[in-house]
Amino acid sequence: MCEGDEMNKIKLIYEGKAKKVYETDDPTLAIFEYKDSLTAFNAQKKDRMQGKGRLTNLISATFLKLLQDKDIPTHFVKLLDDNHQLVKRLKIIPLEVVVRNTSTGSLCKRLGVKEGLDLVPPLVEFYLKNDELGDPLVTEDHIRAFGFASKPQVEKMKELSLKVNEILHKYLSKKGIKLVDFKLEFGMDDEGNIFVADEISPDTCRFWDITSKERLDKDRFRKDLGNVLEAYEEIWRRIADWDKSCSAEYRANILVYLKEGVLDTQGKAVCSSLHSLGYDEVKNVRVGKYIKITLTSPSQEDAASRIKAMCEDLLVNDLIEEYSFELEEI
Ligand SMILES: Nc1ncnc2c1ncn2[C@@H]1O[C@H](COP(=O)(O)OP(=O)(O)O)[C@@H](O)[C@H]1O
Ligand SMILES: [Mg+2]
Repeated sequence: MCEGDEMNKIKLIYEGKAKKVYETDDPTLAIFEYKDSLTAFNAQKKDRMQGKGRLTNLISATFLKLLQDKDIPTHFVKLLDDNHQLVKRLKIIPLEVVVRNTSTGSLCKRLGVKEGLDLVPPLVEFYLKNDELGDPLVTEDHIRAFGFASKPQVEKMKELSLKVNEILHKYLSKKGIKLVDFKLEFGMDDEGNIFVADEISPDTCRFWDITSKERLDKDRFRKDLGNVLEAYEEIWRRIADWDKSCSAEYRANILVYLKEGVLDTQGKAVCSSLHSLGYDEVKNVRVGKYIKITLTSPSQEDAASRIKAMCEDLLVNDLIEEYSFELEEI
């Protein structure tokens, strides 16, 4: 993407449900490759969606960078390309910290409480990171008794999680997104410093549209609501900062024309006018529209998918029209 990548993937260290983790030339750093796979309910439900890894990578990088700019220590180093980011290689604390602003999901199931209740102050929960046990909820006493983390580490994780919540909540509200809940992982470097690790994306957060309450996260996959990738795209569209130095300007030349077989009255009128002017060789005329759009976008691929969406949402009536377009960087 923005910067050249001198880092090399040396060896696959770990392949998880959503990412591959690679060793690099530098033992203190790792490369994350975000995969297109989607899993839910501890991987009992699985699917693959082309382009998902790119979106979770870009969204996660944006959030981690935002937190870093607000002095939250995170493992993020830099974005390498659409599917890779460079991170500090850490020793992961085997706990998942969940912050909840609104009741939903397993909380409602477990406690029989209604969905959509505002939780003020937010709830902070710890889960043991253990796939075989299905990531069970643990209390601070469990954490201490079994040495999953020390008391100061628990305090630090809680403090950072609540700060992350405040920052993301504020930031997302401005984009029309309600931060319902999210999961964080933490890791330590050799000196014992704690960093926010792993990812922050629609795979690990719940995002609702503020007004419609439409789900814009992995719940669409969990509950078979459809349009999973479109929801992730929507989050990326709302958070992407188009003024970033790595965004470029593109021109799209779009042609919209009537489908073969659809009566083209304008074309017919032009054809008969041409005939009356003596252009008897004209056999048929079809009239279409030419639309020129200039836009900024972080990548050519992104610009193409935005233009496609514009055509489908507004510019083209797909009952009677077809379209094609060319994109050029300007
Ligand atoms: N900075 C880091 N250094 C080393 N490992 C990390 C770091 N951040 C996250 N991890 C771990 O890397 C793995 C990422 O892959 P993922 O697909 O999320 O795995 P999982 O299926 O275990 O959730 C996770 O196990 C996560 O705990
Ligand atoms: Mg994971």
